[in-house]
Amino acid sequence: MHFTDPGNTIAYRCPLCHTELQQAERYYHCDNNHHFDIAKEGYVNLLPVQHKNSKQPGDNKAMLQQRRQFLQSGAYQPLVDALIAVMHQLQPARLLDSGCGEGYYSRQLQHTVATGTELHAMDISKAAIQLAAKQSTGIKFCVASAKELPYPAASFDAILLVCAPFQHSELQRVLNEQGALVMVSAAPKHLLEFKQDIYQQVKLHSDAIRSIHGFVHQQRQHCAFVLSQLPADSYLSLLNMTPLGWKLTEAQKQSLCNRLTQLQADFYIDVYRKGS
Ligand SMILES: C[S@@+](CC[C@H](N)C(=O)[O-])C[C@H]1O[C@@H](n2cnc3c(N)ncnc32)[C@H](O)[C@@H]1O
Ligand SMILES: [Zn+2]
Repeated sequence: MHFTDPGNTIAYRCPLCHTELQQAERYYHCDNNHHFDIAKEGYVNLLPVQHKNSKQPGDNKAMLQQRRQFLQSGAYQPLVDALIAVMHQLQPARLLDSGCGEGYYSRQLQHTVATGTELHAMDISKAAIQLAAKQSTGIKFCVASAKELPYPAASFDAILLVCAPFQHSELQRVLNEQGALVMVSAAPKHLLEFKQDIYQQVKLHSDAIRSIHGFVHQQRQHCAFVLSQLPADSYLSLLNMTPLGWKLTEAQKQSLCNRLTQLQADFYIDVYRKGS
């Protein structure tokens, strides 16, 4: 499917009154006088205090730095290549990376999607968006919740979710009628060797296709590859960027990563369309 560039850019939706936000030099505002400053890194925080479920929701700075260190090493390049192929197929003129973390996949896609593609990325973690916005230009970053996406209806031709939470009604609202949802999730053997070391009984990730209310599943791609001979530091960053890292002491983590010779990366890329 090829989407033609609709011309005008997507205006944010005010998280407080749901009217359109207009951009002034250093802030966004709506007709009801709600103001949202543009940070020096270029992002805007559209997560009102009353929508926060904790003081610092989402991934914290330490986890994000580990995530960045690991992803920047290129170890997940096969997943990036597979996502680039999916995006070439879809050719979205307006793309949202929802729950974008420190922005790695947005950055990778930015250079491969068609020129003129409007690329948006959001995450509930302010630390994530700060890191992401510092690293890139040309991607519109904001802090917001997947439970209340700060965009008008039918804004996007494609939405990417890489291991990120979502709310189906919001995805349905901001995706246009022909739009596609591209969801990356862990397949059964993802990080199996870590789990074998941590748990007595390993529970594999499900291989079932997740049904999402208001969406029809269209295609599944299995993206499996082995991370072998990585430096112990890389395994350690990977361990620390996931909740598995919370299960071990620093010494246990170091010992596991020194012993490890290979680790399975196992993902599904599922594409959904609107429908029931
Ligand atoms: C496993 S990380 C994946 C990050 C990124 N997609 C990647 O693969 O590098 C999940 C992300 O979801 C974010 N997150 C958690 N709850 C969220 C919510 N309600 N709305 C938006 N983002 C959320 C976290 O802050 C975190 O950055
Ligand atoms: Zn408002």
